[in-house]
Amino acid sequence: MTTARVVVDRDFTVGPVPHRLFGSFVEHMGRCVYTGIYEPGHPSADEQGFRTDVLELVRELGPTVVRYPGGNFVSGYRWTDGIGPVEERPRRLEGAWHTVESNAFGLHEFVAWARTAGVEVMEAINLGTAGVEEARALVEYANHPGGTYWSDLRRRNGAEEPFDIRLWCLGNEMDGPWQIGHKTAEEYGRLAQEAAKAMRLVDNDLELVACGSSNSGMPTFGAWEQTVLSHAYDEVDFISLHAYYQEHEGDVASFLACSYDTDYFIESVVATADAVGAKRKSTKRINLSFDEWNVWYQRGQETDDQLHRLVKQPWREHPRLIEDTYNVTDAVVVGTLLNSLLRHGDRVTVANQAQLVNVIAPIRSEEGGPAWRQTIFHPFAETARLARGQIMRTAITSSQHHSDRFGDVDTVDVACTWDEGTGRLALFLANRGLEEASDVEVVLRGLQAGADGLTGRVLTVPEDGDRFTANTEDAQDRVGLSDLPVDVQDGSVRVSLPPLSWACVEVPVTTA
Ligand code: AHR
Repeated sequence: MTTARVVVDRDFTVGPVPHRLFGSFVEHMGRCVYTGIYEPGHPSADEQGFRTDVLELVRELGPTVVRYPGGNFVSGYRWTDGIGPVEERPRRLEGAWHTVESNAFGLHEFVAWARTAGVEVMEAINLGTAGVEEARALVEYANHPGGTYWSDLRRRNGAEEPFDIRLWCLGNEMDGPWQIGHKTAEEYGRLAQEAAKAMRLVDNDLELVACGSSNSGMPTFGAWEQTVLSHAYDEVDFISLHAYYQEHEGDVASFLACSYDTDYFIESVVATADAVGAKRKSTKRINLSFDEWNVWYQRGQETDDQLHRLVKQPWREHPRLIEDTYNVTDAVVVGTLLNSLLRHGDRVTVANQAQLVNVIAPIRSEEGGPAWRQTIFHPFAETARLARGQIMRTAITSSQHHSDRFGDVDTVDVACTWDEGTGRLALFLANRGLEEASDVEVVLRGLQAGADGLTGRVLTVPEDGDRFTANTEDAQDRVGLSDLPVDVQDGSVRVSLPPLSWACVEVPVTTA
């Protein structure tokens, strides 16, 4: 048996839970759009071709904002290909994923889908093969009411009212050699600055994200952020982070502790952004947009190697690409990544799990067939549903165990929120230990726990399974949530987390 003691004090908060922390991502990649969210002819499709079975799962998952249309895809994308009568839209060879793009789905369709799903649009512009002119035209098309060339074209294309898109990404992973139109930090920093300036001259009320590093292991990490922000600091609001994790050669302890890297990555980018600000004597703070994160089994292949393998394939429309099947271990890791984002919610105010459907996604769908929840669906859905109000600072003393990559790590991971309005405290807990249950005591200071509505739910290895157990088309609910007993004793909340588990606990509290 391992143990952990967590102290939560009413007066020690990180800040409000950012609404956009529970974002997702739809890229024109593989089957995320086509046969994912959009499949005219599917038995569940509505009159716009949106799969309503997928939409129902999206609503249950609860993303608040969805990034679109890429990803690597956006760096070669002409946004004008995706507007106007569908039958007149060009079919293109799409280089990032070696795919034939029909353009049957474009900006109007995505905005309509987002409204149906009840999510905010986060739009990415192409700063790979395109530039300032295409960017400002897109802002005029999307956001200007009318009476100008681009806004009137939008109206002729059926959208009388502006799309009113506030949150924009200035390109994607421009530090990556695999990116179409890859740039040096100097080149990109200047381009992002000028694109941002031109976009704001069309609509001054935009929130703009500059590309940071594609992951914390990039050789240019740190220097990239420093150079980009030294150019674009005054014009942008966010710097982006991307991170994907996987189990390397059976090193499950390091995989389960990968949120240590997320913590390090976030804190390093905050330090770098603040150093640039301090040097400029600026009172403005750049926040972080963690706009791609997830588990992704790249199996030792870097993204550029994957692209070299892809170009040997025949050209196809919406091929199956990186449709990872997630297991119990992956779900626990996703829970800890969400915890890391929450703990840093004062600076990470946008985050997008990549991606939404089929492509490294919490939701899977089959063409003409069913849609179902992967294991990683559950920690996301529950955290997005329960994390409300203030993020609480958590002081944890946990049993530790060794991991090759991070040294000694806490066996138990925690994040906590408290919504004073509803009187609900939410605890998000993970037991990284594979063998032993962990007894967790949460001491509340300045808050009194009640018993009415005290609930716990846990995701762990099913009785007839192991840590590799996953949900599949023919066993869609093998891994899910079950009830977790929770006690309140002497003002403390007590739970016993099974080995390898993720849990959420709702505690009714009053101020003491
Ligand atoms: O999400 C899959 C890909 O991962 C995205 O297109 C790219 O931005 C990242 O490398």
